[in-house]
Amino acid sequence: MKFFVDTADTAEIRELAETGLLDGVTTNPSLIMKAGRPMKEVIAEICDIVDGPVSAEVVAMEKEAMLAEANELAAIADNICVKLPLTLDGLKACRALADKGVKTNVTLCFSANQALLAAKAGASFISPFIGRLDDINIEGLDLIAEIRQIYDNYGFETEVLAASIRTVNHVKDCALIGADVATIPPATLKSLVKHPLTDKGLEAFMKDWEKTGQSIL
Ligand code: E4P
Repeated sequence: MKFFVDTADTAEIRELAETGLLDGVTTNPSLIMKAGRPMKEVIAEICDIVDGPVSAEVVAMEKEAMLAEANELAAIADNICVKLPLTLDGLKACRALADKGVKTNVTLCFSANQALLAAKAGASFISPFIGRLDDINIEGLDLIAEIRQIYDNYGFETEVLAASIRTVNHVKDCALIGADVATIPPATLKSLVKHPLTDKGLEAFMKDWEKTGQSIL
């Protein structure tokens, strides 16, 4: 499973990129607002840090206006992936961009039927939002499983990009289901490495090593 980080904070992205674990980045208008910097500047910086797809979202509501914004965003770097909302206009724009070979991420997906439409419109990625479904007492992970099955039934190449991830267990469950990608907030991504028995074991090893009085160098 590929790991994307869901943030527009370039300091966080730089730190995570050093681990070699980062396959891409997703942003959205709320994350750009949080970053507090001009969108095109921050997206260009992210594209310099990460080689994989960097999702940058259009904010227009109508197909032609979306396509105009998409052209502007796609011109920033070769690894831009244009993020489009799951609306009829978003799907029309998706088809037009897919036909031109531009990578697309169709976002705000909350049903398997919406995901089916995005795949038929040629989306590179579909972003089903787990956490926001959980928030309204609908099992978000069920949606990931349904989309996985439907895409496999028909051999769609659209990648399932599990989004709105809130917990480390979401990440594990997405991997078990077979999501192609998980886009993960920086803090959750960092906490995947943590286990109390790792910390405890390391502490015990270090204490015993000290008692040997040796040094490796
Ligand atoms: C995905 O691309 C979205 O940016 C993101 O995962 C939304 O997550 P949220 O529901 O925590 O805002």
